[in-house]
Amino acid sequence: MNIAEQFQQDRYAYIENIITPERASELTQHLFDEYQKGNSTKEKQCPLSDSFYNAPLLDKLHKELTEQLNDILDLDLEPSYCYARIYRPGEELHQHTDREACEISGTLTLGHDPDSNIWPFYIGEDMIDNVGKPLTINIGDMVMYHGMELNHWREKYTGTWQTQVFFHYVKKDGAYKEHAGDKIRVPIDTITEGYKDLSKQTIYLFEAGEHVKTNVQWELPNIKTFKKFLNQEFLPTLPNGYEAFLVGAFPHTHTWDIDVFIIGKPTDEVALWVIDMYNKSLNDYKQLIDISMFDNLNVFNNYDLFNKTKDPSVLVQSDMYRTFDKLYRNGRQVTNIHRKVTKISDVLYKHHTSEEVPNRKFLQKNFHQPMDLKRFNEVYNV
Ligand SMILES: [Fe+2]
Repeated sequence: MNIAEQFQQDRYAYIENIITPERASELTQHLFDEYQKGNSTKEKQCPLSDSFYNAPLLDKLHKELTEQLNDILDLDLEPSYCYARIYRPGEELHQHTDREACEISGTLTLGHDPDSNIWPFYIGEDMIDNVGKPLTINIGDMVMYHGMELNHWREKYTGTWQTQVFFHYVKKDGAYKEHAGDKIRVPIDTITEGYKDLSKQTIYLFEAGEHVKTNVQWELPNIKTFKKFLNQEFLPTLPNGYEAFLVGAFPHTHTWDIDVFIIGKPTDEVALWVIDMYNKSLNDYKQLIDISMFDNLNVFNNYDLFNKTKDPSVLVQSDMYRTFDKLYRNGRQVTNIHRKVTKISDVLYKHHTSEEVPNRKFLQKNFHQPMDLKRFNEVYNV
């Protein structure tokens, strides 16, 4: 697989020797010179470090690299802006996704204090994966990534200094083309903070195909509202012969939705009921319930064993049925973009999840035991 194919598939790619070590060293010197001249800024995202917006020599390199990157990635990109930093001790780059001008970005390591290791860059496999994969980017090498789609961050820096530059691009004929040259610049302070701290997110918009569509801003779920919804809407209408379970982290920790599994034969009739529940929950209760259907209870097998062993092969991989193929939050797709999905009817899609390896983010956590939703009232007596 070439780099362009890899970039298309993984949404990021590692590119070696994009510049020579000599040029990297000159550019490091350039940043320290600019710093000495007082041309650096301090900003909220990395307050301990020194940052440079469109530093002269890097701005030049950014434009130079465009053609080469277009060849490597088989894309038609236009520069939006470049940003460089001298990272300082104790710095941390919180989990985040990028703004529109950073549709496609590259992070290039220019240099680092010789007594410190290269500081790893973490990249998630989607916008909410908070386990990710650490990448060590050597001097002169660059990682290109879809910064709006993939969560990315750096853990606390224990070295003395590292110089890094980010080259941001938009697709020439893409949805964000008007951000070329960073013409619609928003203040750096408003760069999205990502989804780590849910309380900071005030707008949640949700769209799932043509069946569940709303302009309602939903709120973070809470037990009281969920109980009301459960007892007034969900349990009284749950189709006969089907079981419903609460899975996932709600209400153990803060979540932005409530995950529910329906167990039983996936039929159009049940799918229509599921769509009705999504819409009722969003429109009347301002909460997002996320409902998946499974053929049988095998999907829950061996949760205990997995929690003890952390061996993903003990988990039973079952196909999942949903009422839509893609899920969008705030206009961005958050479902696995590589997933194989088959349309079964107008309201039912088979997600071939049995063919996937479990998402890495789940493998770092314990699975909560699923709770039969008929028991929720007894357990959460509020
Ligand atoms: Fe970023």
